[in-house]
Amino acid sequence: MPKIKVAIVGVGNCASALIQGLQYYSNCNEEEKAIGLRHLFIGGYHPRDVQIVAAFDVDNRKVGKDLSEAIFAAPNNAPKITTVANSNVIVHKGPTLDGVGEYTKNLIQISNQPETNIANALKESDAEIMLNLLPSGAVKASQWYAEQALKADCAFVNATPAFIASDAAWAKRFEEAKLPLAGDDLIDQVGATTLHKTLLKLLSMHGVRITQTYQLDVGGGTESLDTLERTRDVKRTVKTKSVETALPYKAEVVAGSTDYVDFLENRRDSYFWIRGLYFCNTPMQIDLKLSTVDAPNAGSVLLDVIRAMKIALDKKLKGTVLPICAYAFKHPPQITPLETAEKMFAEFIMDKQD
Ligand SMILES: NC(=O)c1ccc[n+]([C@@H]2O[C@H](COP(=O)([O-])OP(=O)(O)OC[C@H]3O[C@@H](n4cnc5c(N)ncnc54)[C@H](O)[C@@H]3O)[C@@H](O)[C@H]2O)c1
Repeated sequence: MPKIKVAIVGVGNCASALIQGLQYYSNCNEEEKAIGLRHLFIGGYHPRDVQIVAAFDVDNRKVGKDLSEAIFAAPNNAPKITTVANSNVIVHKGPTLDGVGEYTKNLIQISNQPETNIANALKESDAEIMLNLLPSGAVKASQWYAEQALKADCAFVNATPAFIASDAAWAKRFEEAKLPLAGDDLIDQVGATTLHKTLLKLLSMHGVRITQTYQLDVGGGTESLDTLERTRDVKRTVKTKSVETALPYKAEVVAGSTDYVDFLENRRDSYFWIRGLYFCNTPMQIDLKLSTVDAPNAGSVLLDVIRAMKIALDKKLKGTVLPICAYAFKHPPQITPLETAEKMFAEFIMDKQD
């Protein structure tokens, strides 16, 4: 298979998990042994067909370093699962813009190396897909990188909650440039929102009338600190709206992030509370805790998205690719029920499946 050439923006925890995953699964040839992957092959593409050809960051401990080294540099605290072979991809310095917030400014050390011309670097590396893994509060920087993708003829994947794929004006620009676009805000593999929705759906299908429910979480990565300052409100709105769609009636719903707990490192604890009424108004309650590690939670979904975007490029699709957005993102251009999103994605990759 031809290589899928990807440029990464933001060499943080998610990038670390993704790149370690590429190494981890590279020699796995049997679905049965591919524990933790939803698809070993998509459209004939294996994780080893994904090649990171360029990377951009602003932190002094990452810029100028080989990607294999940069992914383990502080303040990254995603677990080290495997050693990664030298990649010969040196992390470029990009413009900081709003990449660093008030709360994270003491964690990130801005490099004083000169800024690379990003569009040129993308063209020189032959990148065909740009993967945006900037902090969630970096809205201007995300938009700036989307511009660079347009300039360099790259498809764009937005894993952050900045509204790009779900923004009609951006979608139109990618369509006019004949480039595929997917986003916004990646869904986790073991997602708290998905689990919450599934539980609510199951209970309501069984005739339970949910009256009140919340899902709140705490995490310890740099991203959790950035969320606390800059995106807590938007994330709460997106998650709450998404959870509400699981119920066919109105209930009191709250879903969102609450705090940063540094000693959790890259871990996240999510708490769920559900109150409802069943037969003859009998009350029931569920109290649940889900513990995950953030960065690996993005790995499997990112690998699916990258390979599906390659299929979109092969099919010469332009503008937002709805089956990818619905399957892999919390804030797609159109809210789609889980089952429909799964079906749309399966059909999308089917005619390329081996
Ligand atoms: N499971 C998950 O971790 C998950 C799930 C859904 C969405 N996301 C999203 O993915 C994104 C990345 O998450 P993360 O945990 O890797 O974040 P992170 O904070 O660990 O990494 C962000 C990286 O971006 C770099 N950066 C900051 N400003 C920059 C700029 N202007 N140019 C280039 N690089 C810059 C930082 O130095 C850092 O290396 C976030 O927006 C997050 O919301 C993550």
